[in-house]
Amino acid sequence: MARLDVTETFHHISFPGHIHTQDSLNYALHFQFQDRDTVIATYPKSGTTWMQEIVTLVKNRGDPQLSKTVPNWARAPWLEQHYSAKVLEATQGHRILTTHLPYNLLASALQGSKAKVIYVARNPKDVAVSYYHFHKMAKFLPEPNSFDEFLDSFLEGSVSYGSWFDHVKGWTSQAGVLANVLYISYEEMWLDLQGSMERISSFLQCPLVGEELTNSLRHCSFSSMSDNAMVNYTQIPKEIMDHSKGKFMRKGIIGDWRNTFTEKQIGIFDTVYSYQMKDCPLTFMWELK
Ligand code: A3P
Repeated sequence: MARLDVTETFHHISFPGHIHTQDSLNYALHFQFQDRDTVIATYPKSGTTWMQEIVTLVKNRGDPQLSKTVPNWARAPWLEQHYSAKVLEATQGHRILTTHLPYNLLASALQGSKAKVIYVARNPKDVAVSYYHFHKMAKFLPEPNSFDEFLDSFLEGSVSYGSWFDHVKGWTSQAGVLANVLYISYEEMWLDLQGSMERISSFLQCPLVGEELTNSLRHCSFSSMSDNAMVNYTQIPKEIMDHSKGKFMRKGIIGDWRNTFTEKQIGIFDTVYSYQMKDCPLTFMWELK
């Protein structure tokens, strides 16, 4: 099947051209955030869809009606994608916004804003493996060829949405600078979903109690989300996402990179990681021995 991997280059970063245009990317750069907005910022494959589901459930006090009837991209649109202006025009009340943009591109739009930002990071080795498999099914991304080749591009930051290192360093540099920001990792969510949900709901000033919490936990589990057509991307035509090549809800685990990385790839990755992350202000769970 032909690929649709037209690239839109913006500020030296490649974006998939079938959902991004120069206009849509510029729209994000000049976006007018409102104080009551919730912004989910992630590098791809870091738990974006999971956080969209969690925030939707928190805002609806555990009622899954919206999660089960409205696709994630319509209830938590990506600011930089071409449909977001239309979706947001029709949105009333609190808005949940998603972005894969690096911090520097949104810095001026976010300046002085009291919007609540949730930044989700994931072990980059797991991100690389997840992203590699996603490239195989997502026809709007380039053919990844071998994992070795893909890993080289990932480490040099030439993949779509740019460098993982720049993304994480950019957003985490705002700890204590942005008015309202919560940093959380995929690993923390995976190891303690209840504790993470409590943290997220308090941050959003909608603390969940009793059944609100148990319902939310049930509906954002991996198995429940895998069966939910509003988040598993099975509604997307196969010319765009070829589900015979893999599932969007693939494994949903931590440490899967061990099944893919060779010793040599681990060595190269760790060297680049130590160099790139030496000035990062935060310590991540996957760095703890
Ligand atoms: P894997 O490919 O490792 O399975 P994103 O939404 O940022 O594109 O991230 C997708 C990754 O998050 C996929 O990882 C997907 O399976 C995982 N994921 C989505 N929902 C999840 C959940 N409820 N629990 C655990 N992992 C989840």
